Amino acid sequence: MITRRKFTGISTLAGIGTVAGCTAPVPKTGLKSVSANDIINVGLIGCRSMGGSNLRDFIRNQDVECIALCDVDQDVLDERVKDVFEKTGKKPLVFKDYRKLLDLKEVDVVIIATPDHWHCLPFVDACKAGKDIYVEKPLANSIAECNIMLRAAKKYNRIATVGQQQRSGAEWAKIMGLVKSGTLGDVKRINCWANFDYGAGEPRVPDSAPPQSIDYDQWLGPAPFRPFNKNRVHGLWRMNWDYGGGLMTDWGVHLLDMALWAMGDTRQFPGTVVASGGIMRFPGNEIQTPDTLNVVFNYGDWVLSWEHSGGIQTGPWNRNYGVSFVGSKGTIVADRASWEMIPEGKNDKVLAEGIPLQTNKQNEHQAHVRHFLDAVKNRKQPDCTIETGHAAAVTALLGNLAYRTGEILRYDPQKQGFMDSSKANGMMAPVYRSPLVFPLLD
Ligand SMILES: NC(=O)c1ccc[n+]([C@@H]2O[C@H](COP(=O)([O-])OP(=O)(O)OC[C@H]3O[C@@H](n4cnc5c(N)ncnc54)[C@H](O)[C@@H]3O)[C@@H](O)[C@H]2O)c1
Repeated sequence: MITRRKFTGISTLAGIGTVAGCTAPVPKTGLKSVSANDIINVGLIGCRSMGGSNLRDFIRNQDVECIALCDVDQDVLDERVKDVFEKTGKKPLVFKDYRKLLDLKEVDVVIIATPDHWHCLPFVDACKAGKDIYVEKPLANSIAECNIMLRAAKKYNRIATVGQQQRSGAEWAKIMGLVKSGTLGDVKRINCWANFDYGAGEPRVPDSAPPQSIDYDQWLGPAPFRPFNKNRVHGLWRMNWDYGGGLMTDWGVHLLDMALWAMGDTRQFPGTVVASGGIMRFPGNEIQTPDTLNVVFNYGDWVLSWEHSGGIQTGPWNRNYGVSFVGSKGTIVADRASWEMIPEGKNDKVLAEGIPLQTNKQNEHQAHVRHFLDAVKNRKQPDCTIETGHAAAVTALLGNLAYRTGEILRYDPQKQGFMDSSKANGMMAPVYRSPLVFPLLD
């Protein structure tokens, strides 16, 4: 008979208590599994905006308990504890050092929703600690980090997914069916775009002392030291290279992933990548990533194009973000809310039947979380595998590297390096700030 494990509240873990700061080595507990009737105990690392949204969609499932939270900002922790208590009547343990959360053998699954520069270390440590992982997109902030994370998930045989929730979208799956069945004819071009106000960053303000609630040194983590600035943390880190990749990675992974899904093999990488853009609209803002960018990824027999404009909220096909799959018989235009197919015509003849506007009524994020929980229980691959997250992140990062080097890049995925570009090869891995070191696998 299967025993139903149930988290019985904070007293179960008495003695561990509330911890701030620790240097304990990460335990290697190896493989462990969760059976179908079990409660899945979840720990959240990075509890603010998306961490909070993820947690809400996890604990709405009857078979999930949130038993631990970790954040380097006490105010964020307090708010999230309150949130969990209101929803479940239980108070999770709280930590400021994620390694202490990973020490809890009761934690089955960790959600990692830290800024992008802080995905890799907790992910690799979580693999070593035998946890299953829901890591936010983009998988990481550099190609070398993406590569080591993929290897770690495989080596430690973890069930791991990435927060690319469109992979669980029923409407997106229908679109993929139409592209793959040839309904659109030959698809040789896929366009992705994302125009968002926030891509412009915020007006520059002077550096200042960090607020008392934040352990700023831990927030920076592996990134180089820079004085605190309120317009570079909490949500606003995205437009700075040390922590994020701007709209190219922030939205790029969601949308480029749809193109890779449609074209069949998520492990394919473009033959060449070329980019052009700059900080053209908002030179006075706290921003390092381009507010205006175009990238072309050439796969030999099809082309993927990306464009973004920060500070703009309209776009092609009257959608501020989206994907158009351009075929010889018709084009599908899609975003998360709706999609349609516009038929191609020749000599007064329509080459395919159009499809009028279809509305998406599904909550893709809730579906994504549920599919991951089922994958954990069944020890099966989730909708969005680690390879899928890896391919989308590396592709988006290639776009940024093409922009930053100003070169036409040729990436060799086998050699995990660039042909003819010492500049790009030098930018594949970040230099971690001591005492943190880039994760290694034994
Ligand atoms: N899937 C999606 O649709 C989606 C949407 C938004 C954001 N995201 C992703 O979610 C992640 C978080 O984004 P956000 O907007 O919530 O950022 P945020 O800045 O609002 O929150 C990040 C939190 O992580 C905390 N943190 C920083 N370093 C930490 C550490 N070492 N240990 C524990 N906590 C730490 C910060 O204090 C903050 O509370 C990013 O990777 C982002 O790309 C995904």
